[in-house]
Amino acid sequence: MKRRIGILTSGGDCPGLNACIRGVARASYSMFDAEIIGIQDGYAGLIAGDYKVMQRSDFSGILTLGGTILGTRRTPFSKMRVIGEDNVDKVKAMKDNYKKMRLDCLVTLGGNGTHKTANLLSEEGLNVIGLPKTIDNDIWGTDVTFGFHTAVDIATDVIDRIHTTAASHGRCMVIELMGNKAGWLTLYAGMAGGADIILLPEIPYDIKVVADAVLRRAEAGKDFSIIAVAEGAMSVEEAAMKKKERAAFRQETNFSGIANRIAKELEALVGVEARAVVPGHVQRGGTPSAYDRMLSTLFGVHAAQLIAAENYGQAVAMIGNTVSHNALSDVAGKTKFVPADAQAIRAARSMGISLGD
Ligand code: F6P
Repeated sequence: MKRRIGILTSGGDCPGLNACIRGVARASYSMFDAEIIGIQDGYAGLIAGDYKVMQRSDFSGILTLGGTILGTRRTPFSKMRVIGEDNVDKVKAMKDNYKKMRLDCLVTLGGNGTHKTANLLSEEGLNVIGLPKTIDNDIWGTDVTFGFHTAVDIATDVIDRIHTTAASHGRCMVIELMGNKAGWLTLYAGMAGGADIILLPEIPYDIKVVADAVLRRAEAGKDFSIIAVAEGAMSVEEAAMKKKERAAFRQETNFSGIANRIAKELEALVGVEARAVVPGHVQRGGTPSAYDRMLSTLFGVHAAQLIAAENYGQAVAMIGNTVSHNALSDVAGKTKFVPADAQAIRAARSMGISLGD
């Protein structure tokens, strides 16, 4: 019996998407009679009916390729049931196109938003399997997401390079890493890069504590400091505000990114020379690391095994060093934040790394 598998990548891209697509495709072709339909630009393509039947050759030579051969878009979950000016009922359109493609299942590669929509479609009766990608590593129920380790490697390399110039100039360098809600990337790259101060969205910081940590280093004869800060980090004062209030406060104070603000504040408070560095999307670009190639492949093969077993409504996950899965309904709508008692947090504190609190 032929199985028709639709596959899409949604949300922000990351290294390992193509490796994972290849894992799904190769394992499917070898385990059963598979036809794979590539859906362009994530859910946007599923809504618009933008897809093509893939050939085996389409999955050749993509293991090491960054980005996604299928293209990706952000199609917010919150808008899925909202009918906008275009008058398109998005959920109906996705279900109709699933039928039109005569799919037996849909495989979605994405982060938290993607999993929420995958769960919505599963609740609507479609056969869906979710695969966990994101450099943020914040998908609930999996120890790790693919893309995360490559981003940690890239961000660590940035910190390493900043280290040498910081030391030469005796400067305080504030490096802003991606992660709006969860600070995994900043925590791991910060520790791997030997940052002196690490600031995460989960732990509101007090600028006086940060300034004090820089001063203590100066007193100990170290005239430079490395601060790794997650883009979503906020001060204790901001953390006490409501979202809208915080946005207004940032607008009034000409907020131009957390690293810029901290660098300016430290210059004023400590009198050091400070610079902000924002590597941005560099952290999501390029070839996946060997670890992520392997992880993406294992995840992709597991998805094919779930298809073979017709076990749908699942989110593939790494659980205690074994590739497994959770129910999509358990994963959707939850975020895996850095817990206050995470081993890496406790290790950082034990080493005298300041977390700004
Ligand atoms: O979710 C991944 C991520 O890279 C976040 O770390 C970051 O906040 C966001 O995407 C950036 O989004 P965009 O690529 O749409 O600017």
